[in-house]
Order: sequence, then C-alpha cells, then structure tokens
Amino acid sequence: MPQLKVKFISGNECVDLRHRILRPGQPIENCIYAGDHSVNSFHIGIVNSDNKIVCNGTFVQEAHKEFPQAALAYRLRGMATDTEFQKHGLGRMVIEAAEAELKKRNCDLLWFNGRTSAEGFYKKLGYTSFENVFDIPLAGPHKIMYKWFTD
Ligand SMILES: CC(C)(COP(=O)(O)OP(=O)(O)OC[C@H]1O[C@@H](n2cnc3c(N)ncnc32)[C@H](O)[C@@H]1OP(=O)(O)O)[C@@H](O)C(=O)NCCC(=O)NCCS
Repeated sequence: MPQLKVKFISGNECVDLRHRILRPGQPIENCIYAGDHSVNSFHIGIVNSDNKIVCNGTFVQEAHKEFPQAALAYRLRGMATDTEFQKHGLGRMVIEAAEAELKKRNCDLLWFNGRTSAEGFYKKLGYTSFENVFDIPLAGPHKIMYKWFTD
C-alpha cells in the first residue's frame, strides 16, 4: 500500500490499536503491558499518510519455561492491524522488521501466546504452534507459538 512507513514507535503509541483491535470494551489499563517501557523492549509500527498507526507489535525480552535452551528469548505482544488495513501485508511487514531487529540483538527465539484465530497468519511467517489450546480470560483460545533464529 502506498505512503506507509515502518518505524520504531513507543509503547504508549501502541495502546490505541491494542484497545480497538485486541481488547475492545475493556479498560484501557488492560492495554498497557508490563515491559512496555523496559529498556530492552521495542515496538514496531506502520504509519499511514495521515500519520496514524495502522499496525503494530511489541517485543519484550522474556524467557519461557518451555524453552530453557534459549540464550536470549523475546516475546511478541499486542500484534494488531487496524480492521480496514488487514490482509494487505502489514502484519507481515511488522514481523519481518522485528525479526531483522531481533537477529541484530542476537535473539535466538521469539515466542508468544498466539490467538488460534491468527494461527494461519503466523504459520505463513514460519512460526510453529504447540498442540495444546488454552483460554486467556477476555481474549479467548490461544496456543504457544514460536520461531528459532539459530542457523
Ligand atoms: C492477525 C493480524 C495481526 C494479521 O495482520 P495482517 O496485516 O492482516 O496480516 P498480513 O496481511 O500481513 O498477512 C500475511 C499473510 O497471512 C494471511 N493471514 C492474515 N491473517 C490471517 C488469519 N487470521 N488466518 C489465516 N491467515 C491469515 C494473509 O492472508 C497473508 O497471506 P498471503 O501472504 O498468502 O497473502 C490481523 O489480522 C489482526 O490484527 N487480527 C486481529 C487481532 C489478532 O488476532 N491479533 C493477533 C493476536 S495473537
């Protein structure tokens, strides 16, 4: 799509899209995540020609007990594309930009609790899912999903 820019944004700038797309009707506090302002976290957004953020994802340094062998693990949170921009390749752009940054940081694993409704999106980007489905209150069914960056 024309006039779109991929860039680093702040955690505060991610809150609106998280609220509208991932947690509509919930208190705004539910859309502010632990780690949003941690020194090792980063946030990638896509800005349109009206300077509005239309897709974003947050990447937080965080280990997971299922991956004890990871030397430097990051967790993806708050992945969302504005409704009218979905299925135009923006989510892919955010994940690809994040993967380039994670590799620069020598991160060897990206994991997250992915919504089962978005599993096809992550699979297209090379992510693997655990079999087990678990419920996150107010957010629905999820699976642990991940990708290793080791060669
Ligand atoms: C899931 C989401 C982030 C994907 O973003 P997007 O900008 O629409 O994704 P893209 O257009 O870059 O999609 C890349 C590919 O995945 C496919 N895809 C996108 N969403 C999909 C889904 N939910 N299920 C299956 N495939 C999907 C696209 O068709 C595209 O396929 P292609 O490369 O063959 O054309 C977006 O749909 C969204 O915000 N959904 C609601 C919130 C949500 O569920 N977030 C994830 C929380 S874990």
